[in-house]
Amino acid sequence: MQAYRLLSVRWNMATTSLRNVVVRLKVTRRLAHWRLYLLAAATISVCLWLRLMRINDVTIVDDDDVALRASGSFYVAERRVVSAINCSALFAGKKSEISKALEYDKSHSEGRDFDVVRYFAGPHDCDRFRSRRGYPSRPLSDEENLFPLAFSILLLSQVNEAERLLRAIYMPQNSYCIHVDKKASPDIQHALMALARCFDNVFVTAEQLDIIYGTITLVTAELNCMRDLLHFNKDWKYFINLASEEFPLKTNRELVKILKLYDGLNEIQQVNHVHIAKHTKYKHALLPCDRDTESPSAVCMTKTDQLKSAPPHDLVIFKGSRYGAFSRRFSDFVVHSAVSAAYVEWLQDTLIPDELFWGTLNRNQHIYPPGGSTGDRYINNSPIRAVIWEYESKGVKCGGKFVREVCVFGYADLPILYMTPYFFANKFYKNFQRLALDCLEELHVNRTLHLEPIDTEYYLRNLPK
Ligand SMILES: *[C@@H]1O[C@H](CO)[C@@H](O)[C@H](O)[C@H]1NC(C)=O
Ligand SMILES: *[C@@H]1O[C@H](CO)[C@@H](O)[C@H](O)[C@H]1NC(C)=O
Repeated sequence: MQAYRLLSVRWNMATTSLRNVVVRLKVTRRLAHWRLYLLAAATISVCLWLRLMRINDVTIVDDDDVALRASGSFYVAERRVVSAINCSALFAGKKSEISKALEYDKSHSEGRDFDVVRYFAGPHDCDRFRSRRGYPSRPLSDEENLFPLAFSILLLSQVNEAERLLRAIYMPQNSYCIHVDKKASPDIQHALMALARCFDNVFVTAEQLDIIYGTITLVTAELNCMRDLLHFNKDWKYFINLASEEFPLKTNRELVKILKLYDGLNEIQQVNHVHIAKHTKYKHALLPCDRDTESPSAVCMTKTDQLKSAPPHDLVIFKGSRYGAFSRRFSDFVVHSAVSAAYVEWLQDTLIPDELFWGTLNRNQHIYPPGGSTGDRYINNSPIRAVIWEYESKGVKCGGKFVREVCVFGYADLPILYMTPYFFANKFYKNFQRLALDCLEELHVNRTLHLEPIDTEYYLRNLPK
């Protein structure tokens, strides 16, 4: 801010001298002499030149009061600092600060989120969008530049959350695939396309699927993104899949350092689980849901009494998570191998196949998955996602609230999230204890800007085996 004030003073001086010149010109018009005109022209040129020079290191204050430091072509939002609350105190678990945050929520039910649909509805300037929102325009380090990552973001309609997530993980050397649900409104589709056009390294999938939870569509959408990303960029080393209501707990630099330790291994959950038989023994079919759901037309994967055949290629099924960190060679294998294609086909009539897909391909060594491993890996030792499942929480407390069996994180979760080795946290709702996400964002930016050494000990000890 100090720098901003200094510069705005200089800026005022420049405009004042410009005004003086104009005044002087008026006063002396009658006595006009060609030398005076020359002098005025020179002064104006100098002023304009000074102004142009200044643009390069000026601090811009934009409509949303986000101060951006623009040095050369590189922008980083300096002030994603939350003013309503002391985030450090929330991360320290201070009870009085949590009360203060809860009070704040009562009087601020509507947040001031950046409105992506509105912003891209009319004419917009991509340079301004990128700088206003604080997207970096060059890699933060050589190490990160030499180890690009690829991401997918799946969303139904949470377009503001998706943009906020993109901004948090965005680096110009990485590649980003956005899959927006076919059911999303035209406004949202349009906004995301326009947003993607503002970047060389972000695209929206050409094919949009109608995602139905519990069905193979969640796998197919990820495979589409993986395939497109493989074509899109030949350099990325790892692929990480995300949903719009998640947020990173590690910076890009930290992810790079950690994934370099993995050295081609995948981070994928894989265990033998009681649910597997229930989900795969009988054929399932999409039928109207039998319990009350949000929409009357909803369909659910429902068990039939037809037995399923054995899995193809002698695959032993393992349960894991929808999410992982997949090496480039594994991604290539999953997209192109015949085993993978046959397995996708076999999963079509199973329940929640997205949790059976990655782990099974990663763990069956007889199909030679690149970067695969045979050890048990689950929520407790797989650092991919901080998520608390209601039925598996075993004494792990949800500081927010459970919604459809998953903990929506709140203020009381921040001290723990802050310390965990997990890469990303799932999930946050913008209308529930909203300052929690704001504070994580503040911390994420701080960690991005202040390069503290990271503790790799845990990851080294805990590599997949
Ligand atoms: C982030 O950095 C700002 C500015 O240095 C500081 O005021 C704030 O307390 C930091 N926040 C956290 C959560 O570390
Ligand atoms: C915010 O809280 C931290 C931790 O409790 C404390 O050290 C710091 O002084 C507080 N900052 C302000 C501006 O109150």
